[in-house]
Amino acid sequence: QRQYRLDYRPPAYLVDTVALDFDIQENNTQVTAQLAVARNVAGPAGPWRLDGRGMRLVRVAIDGADLAHDAYELTDTALWLDNLPSVFELTIVTELDPETNLSLEGLYRSGAILCTQCEATGFSRITYFPDRPDVMARFTTRIEADAARYPVLLSNGNCTQAGMAQPGRHYAIYEDPFAKPCYLFALVAGDLGVIRDTYTTASGREVALAVFTEHGNEPQCHHALDALKKAMAWDEATYDLEYDLDQFFIVAVGSFNMGAMENKGLNIFNTACVFAHPETATDGDFARVRDVVAHEYFHNYTGNRVTCRDWFQLSLKEGLTVYREHQFAIDHGSPGVTRIEQVRMIRDIQFPEDGGPRAHPVRPDSYIEMNNFYTITVYEKGAELIRMIAQMAGREAFTDAVKHYLHKHDGQAVTIEDFVVAMEETTGLDLAQFRHWYSHAGTPRVAISQQHENNTLTLTLSQSTPATPGQPNKPVFDIPISLAVFDTAGSQQVPPQLVRLNHARKKIVYKDVPEPAVVSALRGLSAPVKLTQDTTERDLVCLMAHDSDPVSRWDAAQSLYMTHLLACVDAIRADHALPGLGDGLSQAITRLLADWPADRALLAEMLTLPSTIQIGEAFERIDVAAIDGARRAVRQQIGSRFEEELTALATAHAPRSTYVFDQDAAGRRAVFALALGYLAETGVEGIEAWCRTVYDEADNMTDRMAALGALQYCPGATRDRLLGDFARRFANEPLVMDKWLRLQVSAPDIDAVAQARALLQDPAFDFTNPNRLRALLGGLVRGNAPAFHRADGAGYALLVDEILRIDAFNPQMAAALAGLIAPWQRYDARYGQGMRAGLSRLDGAELSDNTREIVASGLADA
Ligand code: ARG
Ligand code: ZN
Repeated sequence: QRQYRLDYRPPAYLVDTVALDFDIQENNTQVTAQLAVARNVAGPAGPWRLDGRGMRLVRVAIDGADLAHDAYELTDTALWLDNLPSVFELTIVTELDPETNLSLEGLYRSGAILCTQCEATGFSRITYFPDRPDVMARFTTRIEADAARYPVLLSNGNCTQAGMAQPGRHYAIYEDPFAKPCYLFALVAGDLGVIRDTYTTASGREVALAVFTEHGNEPQCHHALDALKKAMAWDEATYDLEYDLDQFFIVAVGSFNMGAMENKGLNIFNTACVFAHPETATDGDFARVRDVVAHEYFHNYTGNRVTCRDWFQLSLKEGLTVYREHQFAIDHGSPGVTRIEQVRMIRDIQFPEDGGPRAHPVRPDSYIEMNNFYTITVYEKGAELIRMIAQMAGREAFTDAVKHYLHKHDGQAVTIEDFVVAMEETTGLDLAQFRHWYSHAGTPRVAISQQHENNTLTLTLSQSTPATPGQPNKPVFDIPISLAVFDTAGSQQVPPQLVRLNHARKKIVYKDVPEPAVVSALRGLSAPVKLTQDTTERDLVCLMAHDSDPVSRWDAAQSLYMTHLLACVDAIRADHALPGLGDGLSQAITRLLADWPADRALLAEMLTLPSTIQIGEAFERIDVAAIDGARRAVRQQIGSRFEEELTALATAHAPRSTYVFDQDAAGRRAVFALALGYLAETGVEGIEAWCRTVYDEADNMTDRMAALGALQYCPGATRDRLLGDFARRFANEPLVMDKWLRLQVSAPDIDAVAQARALLQDPAFDFTNPNRLRALLGGLVRGNAPAFHRADGAGYALLVDEILRIDAFNPQMAAALAGLIAPWQRYDARYGQGMRAGLSRLDGAELSDNTREIVASGLADA
């Protein structure tokens, strides 16, 4: 059933307190909920809906008196109560079986751990409750379980009591003093290892910190704990936000649909976002763990203390929290490279979503299944909207505005509109036109052209936005465009400034600018738009060498590569010979390789070609084989032309010292891996032996993966032997084996679909675990597009088979996989027809609401 944003009605009843009692037995957990309820004068009259599904209702009582079966109405998804007093106590007893719950929503088992996931609506798999974020209650939780099997019992808030119960059993009671929506409820029971620490807040309160995990993994949790302390200090220093409970716990579980969850005082994480040890995690993993830990911690204010009125407002908490996470990441790594990674995420993942069948506004207007809207648009584009406000307001005014917003709405469930109003109140900005960004999907196109006469530089800016499903007409957006002007030697003619393009067209005139001038625009991606600009190759070479902003230097390089890549795609499609590397591009790379930027991670980024997805964005229809062929060919052109320089680069950055995770060391490793990859793809002599040495001598996973990544281009005995060694060495580390799974399906020379099918059928493969599925199927579809999109359709057939199998137990996961073939219309008919056939096959099957919603969007007006 489709929900509409404009249908919002306040809740009919409010819940003041909830006392939960979990009696955990083998195969059965009994939950007793006691709710203090009062009618909401602002809410609608009539019966009261409590949400609930997938459990057994044992008892309903009002003020202690049991209700007869005909005194309530029970459906598959709700319990309806009528003729209620205006104030009463409601008792509900339910029974659930976490052991057979493979949806990973509600209460479920992950290995030795019983845990919960309630966002968005998992709480209604635990008890009947108004499962909506604007019902905020104070929770008390009592957990009782077998003492040997579940020695650790955790819930939100502070532990106020614990002890032995009947023989062999024990209990714990937690009280959370902060009213919260039920999506923030959490419970954990299990036999867990733990590492502990404390944090003293700015005002001197001591907070107990801990990371819990299955025994044996404790050594992999120190980096996460360290990141947590960094995040706590950063939020105090940046926004004056101090932690508000006596304890903050993280629990790492192996089976988790997403990255992590910000339950009040008891975050539950996918192990992939907690574990980080040099021998098993790469630099990328270390950074991700740090940032996700910070993200979930930041939710304590932006999400928990101030929450969402309804799920259409999801970006209220996610966009703002991602923005805070981005700021934190920039303060803890290379600012330029960190921003480059964010820009790439927007261009490679968000822009395609915004240009496909699933395009939706940052604040969606309707949904069938909310879990389908935890998207890159709501998260990352949402964060970019906040970044635009911050740029327009200035950092200090923006920080004050966030403080004002959190103060004004503390303890409330509010809307994106409330947030925007709070921004206006403090910054003095007029955001009337800016609001379109929240209500309209699609990526605006901005064009900039320049005229230069008599030392007067005139820029003409214009915008237009293509239609998206359900939104044929787009408004004129308020687009902040950061501009600077340089001369050809790189000195600044016009300092960086922010221009607001808030009309369809706008002219900007700069006087006294000597010719020739080089215009650097949309610096750092100041707005999530696609820019076309009449810059020349000479301008780009100049910006790449001299722009004062590293992100702009990188972006100029991307444009240079892109022009050449597009020419190569066209040549392949027309069956012509490939154009050679042009003079401008060769010159730019020559310069870069002669004078390495001190930030080596930036050098690695500047030598990385736009992704195949990025190249595909430039075309009306995506030609998978031609794009992949062009990108590989250009890498080989660069590899052969600069073999000597790349060899020198790799040699200078070859692993030497023992592993530390810091900016400088990680940058050196990145540049080494990059150079090794070029040399391997080019097939230079001796590269296999070099990779083998790197692999054998590595003391860390980053270098090991650099060697294996390069060997993907070198079929043969060395590769087979090292992959075999890797599998034996890490057989007991599921997250590392996920890297191995990706490698197994991503080499360009293998029958990756057959390989994926074989791995899926291996009895050791746990297809109920989302991380395994993401590694194998994500690795195939995203990591090896040409193999997946093969002409006989075997790739689509495999994916559809798996979606159907998975949908029966984990609809969230299945829906995410279906999204991979939904944008069939974006592809050349050679591929699109097969993708569409896959969607039709899904359409003819029995599907969850989650997957059906995705399939229907793909098949709409086809
Ligand atoms: N709120 C979590 C985060 O920090 C995401 C959890 C979403 N889970 C889900 N099943 N929809 O981003
Ligand atoms: Zn979040």
